[in-house]
Amino acid sequence: MTRKPVADIIAEGGEGGGHTLSKTLGPWSITALGIGCIIGAGIFVLTGTAAAKYAGPSIMLSFVVGGIACAFVGLCYAELAALLPVSGSTYTYTYATLGEIFAWIIGWDLILEYAMGASTVAVGWSGYIVSLLRNFHINIPPQYAAAPWTEAKLPDGTTVEGIVNLPAAFIVLLLTAMLMGGTKESARLNNIMVAIKLFVVAAFILLGIGYVNPANWHPFIPDNTGEFGSFGLTGIMRGASVVFFAFIGFDAVSTAAQEAKNPQTDMPIGILGSLVICTILYVAVAGVMTGLVPYAQLNVPDPIAKAVDVIGLTWFSVLIKFGALAGLTTVILVLLYGQSRIFFQIAKDGLLPRMFSDVHPSLGTPYKSQLLIGIIVAVVAALTPIDVLGEMVSIGTLFAFVLVCGAVIYLRKSDAEVARPFRTPAVPVVPILGIVFSLLLMAFLPLATWMRLVIWLIIGLALYFAYGSSHSVLRNGLRGQRPLK
Ligand code: ALA
Repeated sequence: MTRKPVADIIAEGGEGGGHTLSKTLGPWSITALGIGCIIGAGIFVLTGTAAAKYAGPSIMLSFVVGGIACAFVGLCYAELAALLPVSGSTYTYTYATLGEIFAWIIGWDLILEYAMGASTVAVGWSGYIVSLLRNFHINIPPQYAAAPWTEAKLPDGTTVEGIVNLPAAFIVLLLTAMLMGGTKESARLNNIMVAIKLFVVAAFILLGIGYVNPANWHPFIPDNTGEFGSFGLTGIMRGASVVFFAFIGFDAVSTAAQEAKNPQTDMPIGILGSLVICTILYVAVAGVMTGLVPYAQLNVPDPIAKAVDVIGLTWFSVLIKFGALAGLTTVILVLLYGQSRIFFQIAKDGLLPRMFSDVHPSLGTPYKSQLLIGIIVAVVAALTPIDVLGEMVSIGTLFAFVLVCGAVIYLRKSDAEVARPFRTPAVPVVPILGIVFSLLLMAFLPLATWMRLVIWLIIGLALYFAYGSSHSVLRNGLRGQRPLK
């Protein structure tokens, strides 16, 4: 239960970074960063599955629920990001509040968000690249672009059993190699990617809206099938818990806190601004998508492209796929990068083997942890179906959100005197609402996903007692951290 003192964490922020980061990011860049991390497989892939299986056209309402939940949590992230601007995100916040074992559990849980999130988006990437290559008459055999025991559709409409998802593994390994080589996401490159993504999404909405067949929106809330979470009101909530994945990434904005020119205003603008913009876009895309294609037909790997086929503009369909691929690529990149920074921090604290905090002498990257993560993510992406992955990511992230909201309330009492560049409004009401909404969304995830979360956390606990508890830097007073360039 040892807590890492807030003052130590703040001091370590400069030390661990190796240098003081320059404060270059204004509200627009931070908002663009958020949108860059947020828009990905959630909207380009999972919306179709969630509409087809759970909510129908009322998937639009699911997005509204997800957006509201994230807004409360986002306000809590903004306070902690400005208060503890160091790598490690929720792991670090928890180390300062609930203590080491909870920090480890949350660090272990964050693997679900970042590493498994990267796998999920990679599977989405695979769906779009296969579809794009088909436009150029290059056919990847479907069984080599699908996880084992899942159905893959052949061009003639028949199905075969998947063997391995090779394109998903390919993109992960490619981006891992780039990250190991020192590739840095510059704000400019990110802005360009964000512009492409936004252009494609806006073009889909504007071009598609004219072709919407309102009959596809009826019934807006399909009748519940008698099964909990299968259409009807519970379907909207189950849909919200699935498409919640689409909002993941706004928390990555919090890691830019120390680079914000004016964190007090830029953090809330960046976090809430990107959330509002994405929520509006998501609702609009979901509306157009379900208006173009009867929702029952949307359970495909590339639902937006399927919707565009209804419009009948082949060139636009190709453009959409390029845009989606660019967008998905940046999300995978950021998630792989974020995961390596969290591993780096955990290893620095001694809870993982020290070699994972090794920094390459010339490249300045935590190359060992980056490689390990890349291999694991590639294997998972090659072998696991996207819906299982996406739900694991959502439950893991929501669990982290509960702790972040709790940490805001706790630190207001335990460290009341520390200066807070940004203060969450109406504490404890806003954090409590964040906790309630997160738990509500968790409650609507299938029981199997809960079981997987519990098993995952038990494995994590076993690892802590086998290794971390005896190697903790904090409790053994060890030092000698290596800086990350
Ligand atoms: N929110 C990100 C996505 O939808 C993770 O891909």
